Amino acid sequence: MQKVGFIGWRGMVGSVLMGRMLEENDFAHIPEPVFFSTSNAGGKGPDIGREVARLGDAYDLDALAELDAIVSCQGGDYTKAVFPKLRDKGWQGYWIDAASSLRMEDDAIIVLDPVNRDVIDRGIDAGVKNFIGGNCTVSLMLMALGGLFKADLVEWVSAMTYQAASGAGAKNMRELIAQMGAIRDGVAHELEDPASAILEIDRKVADTMRSADFPTREFGAPLAGSLLPWIDTQLENGQSREEWKAQVEANKILGTERTVPVDGTCVRIGAMRCHSQAFTVKLKKDLPMADIEQLIGTANDWVKVIPNEREATLQRLTPTAVTGKLDVPVGRLRKLNMGPEYLNAYTVGDQLLWGAAEPLRRVLLILLG
Ligand code: HSE
Repeated sequence: MQKVGFIGWRGMVGSVLMGRMLEENDFAHIPEPVFFSTSNAGGKGPDIGREVARLGDAYDLDALAELDAIVSCQGGDYTKAVFPKLRDKGWQGYWIDAASSLRMEDDAIIVLDPVNRDVIDRGIDAGVKNFIGGNCTVSLMLMALGGLFKADLVEWVSAMTYQAASGAGAKNMRELIAQMGAIRDGVAHELEDPASAILEIDRKVADTMRSADFPTREFGAPLAGSLLPWIDTQLENGQSREEWKAQVEANKILGTERTVPVDGTCVRIGAMRCHSQAFTVKLKKDLPMADIEQLIGTANDWVKVIPNEREATLQRLTPTAVTGKLDVPVGRLRKLNMGPEYLNAYTVGDQLLWGAAEPLRRVLLILLG
């Protein structure tokens, strides 16, 4: 493979991808990286430690058709606008995409190689050309619980999520901070006085959050100091689209023959870029905790079992501890009162790393051979 095109490399996911590729020296494996822009064709390309051509036009189908592979972090609208036209032209290259548009297509594989390298390899052998990153919560769940799935121990999973602002986009992260600031500013005077009445502070905080001036353009409602128990669009069956993705994508990633039910409630909380999830796992059989911990902890190089102890949990199983890291800690592991086959588990993962950029750079390396 000679020419690999990058689109959307300047956005949030794209920037994380570029950062990881530079950190791992991935560009050394790419003879000719070509960078594109939807708005600044002809501009200067990124600094990757060697000369790169001026930015190409991301809508120039002839230029795209010359590439052996395209990595897009530009978003679903771009994919929908460009991908079908490019394939209609007869383009046979690899399309690697962070957006969800093509995920559930029959001719696409959802990539998460520490979990489904076998599915990816079989797909490559069968001539599959479209490799799509999974939904962040799904990928992070499978990085965390992959060992139990691999051992075919999972009858069903309920996943209750605590999802960070970054999953909604860069503007949403800014809005979350603006909301935090507005709340604090509204009671700055009272906070300085340790004798001020807490219920008065609380009332002012609620007034601020409910006021028309409170910044809610991106989220549509206050998130800081609150939470939003609906992510993505509404489906007719009562699920949110984010909740729907859990089962369909997890089963597609794993390549299951019989669908493993996965369902729960997805909730946006005021974390910056780490998604957390509380799982109830119905195991197919009663297994000692030591065996469960071993299966979970040895499934891949990034999953880390955190002892089910207060101090370790507060130090290592929080968005603050995990942000910016590839580690996927799993803790709060214990059997539930419902019975010995009911496992409690809790995980935290950086949704921009394993939830978005990392599976893409890794599948590119796999395809580059
Ligand atoms: N849909 C996810 C979220 C983003 O809103 O958090 C990553 O797939």
